[in-house]
Amino acid sequence: METTSKKELIVTKIKNGTVIDHIPAGRALEVLKILKINKQDRIALVMNVESKKMGKKDIIKIENKEVDEKEANLITLIAPTATINIIRDYEVVEKKKLKIPEVVKGVLKCTNLTCITNNDIEAVSEFVRISERPLKMKCVYCDTVIDENDISKQILGSEK
Ligand code: CTP
Ligand code: ZN
Repeated sequence: METTSKKELIVTKIKNGTVIDHIPAGRALEVLKILKINKQDRIALVMNVESKKMGKKDIIKIENKEVDEKEANLITLIAPTATINIIRDYEVVEKKKLKIPEVVKGVLKCTNLTCITNNDIEAVSEFVRISERPLKMKCVYCDTVIDENDISKQILGSEK
């Protein structure tokens, strides 16, 4: 709950859309990168608020947009603790079940600068999951392994 010391909300409840809650503090900006956000979208971003479960957390509210399965699963790469709530007419109608994807194409930038994906404009990055806990993904082109901390720094966003 995004409450302050008393009971008031930092951002209001939304009528329709998606609430991404329990994002590890400081990771919301990376989460935004993997969502397909347009300039017209109405978004509320809350960072570093108190959480009973996690100490501090970030929250993203997106009005009039329901995050799909693929986007939801990609979010687990950056925010494994996140809960994704679909809101319709002010009610939470769905809490999405999240699965860390097994294969991720075009989302992560390989940390190896000599990797073909960093040098050939045609090559699209591709990572396969080799471990879930702790999270580890391996580049299929050069076998470089990146862990959870690196992953959140290597998000390419939706431009590639
Ligand atoms: N929320 C919102 N607008 C609504 C309904 C809910 O912004 N119309 C937000 C809540 O403020 C909360 C999240 O969506 O941050 C999930 O809502 P809810 O399931 O009611 O809260 P909790 O029971 O605290 O959720 P959790 O299962 O994550 O503990
Ligand atoms: Zn690589």
